[in-house]
Amino acid sequence: MLFLGIESSCDETALALVQDGRRVIASHVASQTKIHERWGGVIPEIAAREHLVALGSMYQNLLKSSEVSPNHIDAIAVTQGPGLIGCLLVGVSFAKGLAQSSSKPLIPVNHVHAHVHGALLGIDAEYGQIFPTLALVVSGGHTNLYYMSSPTAFELIAHTIDDACGESFDKVGKMLGLPYPGGPHVEMLAKSGDASKVSLPRMIERKSHMAFSYSGLKTAVARVIRDEKTTAAQHADIAAAFQDEALGQIVRKLEIAQMMRPKAKSIIVAGGVAANSRFKSLVKESTKLPVWFPEQHFCSDNGAMIAALGFHTFRQDKHETNLSWDVFSRYPFEKFLTTDN
Ligand code: KG4
Ligand code: ZN
Repeated sequence: MLFLGIESSCDETALALVQDGRRVIASHVASQTKIHERWGGVIPEIAAREHLVALGSMYQNLLKSSEVSPNHIDAIAVTQGPGLIGCLLVGVSFAKGLAQSSSKPLIPVNHVHAHVHGALLGIDAEYGQIFPTLALVVSGGHTNLYYMSSPTAFELIAHTIDDACGESFDKVGKMLGLPYPGGPHVEMLAKSGDASKVSLPRMIERKSHMAFSYSGLKTAVARVIRDEKTTAAQHADIAAAFQDEALGQIVRKLEIAQMMRPKAKSIIVAGGVAANSRFKSLVKESTKLPVWFPEQHFCSDNGAMIAALGFHTFRQDKHETNLSWDVFSRYPFEKFLTTDN
């Protein structure tokens, strides 16, 4: 089945055509980073307006460049959430319009879950070789570890109790005077640093407490910069020490998760931070299981991962007519609709 995937949850407008959840026919991404960098973060209202301007022509270009006619598209998948509410509404409205005018099925997709499928695009392994799997989504908004018994079964077994990992990279990047978004710049700076020269706190290790935390680490970095009046040369050491603990705590929890879930056949690491090469080597050194990271251009937000999860959801829920259609920002609306109080 040929799926069109539409992503507009934050500052990337992205569309893609994906065959059977794995084979990417075309993937176009328009990043708004240049527009938002002067504010050092995403301005939601501007982001939503940019999506509105970009979507129509990007859709036409996608079809033209891949020589696919709209009739060949079997179904449409769109990011339903979590994300910036105005941005989500633009993407969902566009997708609804397309689906209505072409009488194609429309599938709502969870953005965070979709990142996992970004790591499986283009690979040959059978699903039986991959699942059950332990899947990490490490991005600007989330640090989640799932146990997945199938491509659509997401059991959340650990998440951050404060900042997300990518968000902490961005904040530390800002403290070190690096451009936005900080993640890739912190990685670059860390390459010339010596982590052992800076002492930062390690997240408390308790088997029973499967969680990640970044606020203490971030505050410790701020304190080192302020109290030690650090020079530019020391900034590389700080970046290296921060990076090692930010990623190290994830790897240590992943090791515990493998003991807790011995049936896991593989590990998937996805989300923007999966682009970090130190992360790749730390995870691969820590396990005997096969590990899948996304290709570099599928680490950050893209439409192909949305199309891929849309395909699996459609296959599973084909006969289900009441798919939830509320656009949600961070948490599904149903959570707030209970009448308990
Ligand atoms: O998945 P993503 O593109 O967007 C969200 O859904 O959040 O993730 C973006 C995050 C940003 O915080 C960015 O700084 C971080 O991923 N990131 C990195 C690297 N490349 C991107 N963090 C560390 N090292 C990198 N190489
Ligand atoms: Zn994302």
